[in-house]
Amino acid sequence: MKWMLKLQERISGLAPWDAQKITDEWFRAHFEYAADVVHQWMDGVLDMRTARFLNFGCGDGITDLSLVLRHGATAIHGVDIRREYAKLPRIAREQLGMARLPSALTFETIRPGASLAGKRALVDGIMSWSTFEHVQRDQLAPILADLHACLRPGGYFFLQIEPLFYSPYGSHLRRYDEVPWHHLLASEDELWQVIQNHDGPIDAAEVDFGFADFGVDGYKRFVFKEYQALNRLTADELVAFAQEAGFRLERQERRNVEREIPALLLESYPREWVLNNEIMLLLRKE
Ligand SMILES: C[S@@+](CC[C@H](N)C(=O)[O-])C[C@H]1O[C@@H](n2cnc3c(N)ncnc32)[C@H](O)[C@@H]1O
Repeated sequence: MKWMLKLQERISGLAPWDAQKITDEWFRAHFEYAADVVHQWMDGVLDMRTARFLNFGCGDGITDLSLVLRHGATAIHGVDIRREYAKLPRIAREQLGMARLPSALTFETIRPGASLAGKRALVDGIMSWSTFEHVQRDQLAPILADLHACLRPGGYFFLQIEPLFYSPYGSHLRRYDEVPWHHLLASEDELWQVIQNHDGPIDAAEVDFGFADFGVDGYKRFVFKEYQALNRLTADELVAFAQEAGFRLERQERRNVEREIPALLLESYPREWVLNNEIMLLLRKE
């Protein structure tokens, strides 16, 4: 019961937690790095303590938990088409020794493309981390328009994508394949062979909490399907979609890799696409 949890928090505060207990590198990357970046971009424009947030594509909710515990957020509603956030109580217990999640966090499973506008009060801020490259291309415009409608006038939307599709590891397959731009150079069959043949450990920071559900081979199939479903958005396209939906671009940062580009690639793709690995946008609703 949410009200009992709120009452308990008012009386005795949030459940104790201890970041020294963190052992999982995926958890650490989200609890520390991702949450800090979101905070850096949002803190200057919104008051974290009073703002109501929506996290679009919240995944397991670790970043949201950190924004509450480490950055003082008091209301974050996470939505996602999967239910990874259902693991958060266990994850918080294991990684932080935290007995119960803060009442500031709420989560919801949605159908892909389902409209959120009008279902809840307008929010002050929206964030989305490594999610928009996974949204089906024909749903990009309606989803961005819907998120625009969820935001109060004057509210902000922080949107991050990394890695962008045409960058060296834009396939999201790096945990199995270290060859840069391999997805732009090899056939799908060849890529799948590389993944199938992969044996041994994968980078712990790249292994999410879904791994245990899938097992080694199931996870390979899952990750490859995710690759096939990527919408191949470029940074320019993302900005155009956001502006088309009515957002004003307040600030943007594009991060590029420094690498020698195989000559063959430049015959097919612009240099700026293949070097641009990450985009961060701060969008505003006027
Ligand atoms: C790479 S994960 C990132 C999750 C989380 N933001 C994080 O940093 O761990 C991408 C997430 O986007 C979600 N997603 C994909 N398409 C979506 C859609 N149309 N609506 C909402 N979430 C979506 C996926 O279920 C997945 O949880």
